[in-house]
Amino acid sequence: MSKLFIYYSHTGNGDLVAEALRKQGYELRKAVPRRDLPKSFAASMLKGGFLAGIGHKSKLKGYDSDVSGYDEVIIGTPVWNGKVSCPVNTVLSETDLTNKKLAFVLYSGGGSAPKAVKKLKEKYDCPVFELREPLKNPDELNKLGQL
Ligand SMILES: Cc1cc2nc3c(=O)[nH]c(=O)nc-3n(C[C@H](O)[C@H](O)[C@H](O)COP(=O)(O)O)c2cc1C
Repeated sequence: MSKLFIYYSHTGNGDLVAEALRKQGYELRKAVPRRDLPKSFAASMLKGGFLAGIGHKSKLKGYDSDVSGYDEVIIGTPVWNGKVSCPVNTVLSETDLTNKKLAFVLYSGGGSAPKAVKKLKEKYDCPVFELREPLKNPDELNKLGQL
């Protein structure tokens, strides 16, 4: 069964998740925004938090939305302002996930984003896993064993 992990990462937590999933047999596809967040922490929080809050979709660099060759797709996103990140909003709007075995992995500072989880479960009716800063807490990656 062919498996794909599509994700975004700004500060590396998502990349660590991707590496763990690669070892579990997933191919990787990283969403890369044309304009990433500002480098300064405060500015990135302000801009990313605001844009995620309004459901903004980032323009991506050469995103391949064709998932027809995969049976299983996992989507990974950092939590921004309690919501899905802007690059992953674009992934979700451009990718036809119909009939895929689907799951989400959310990584965040607090490890819990109930509003985002509720929304995703309502819309996609699939498992959502939440990880608290896997770069600082590598044990969180053990949750991926449930996939
Ligand atoms: C713009 C922005 C907004 C964030 N908002 C939240 C939040 O609402 N709740 C939370 O727990 N963490 C929040 N974080 C922290 C990230 O979700 C967390 O560091 C995540 O692991 C980052 O993943 P990455 O390293 O793959 O980019 C935010 C980070 C950024 C940059």
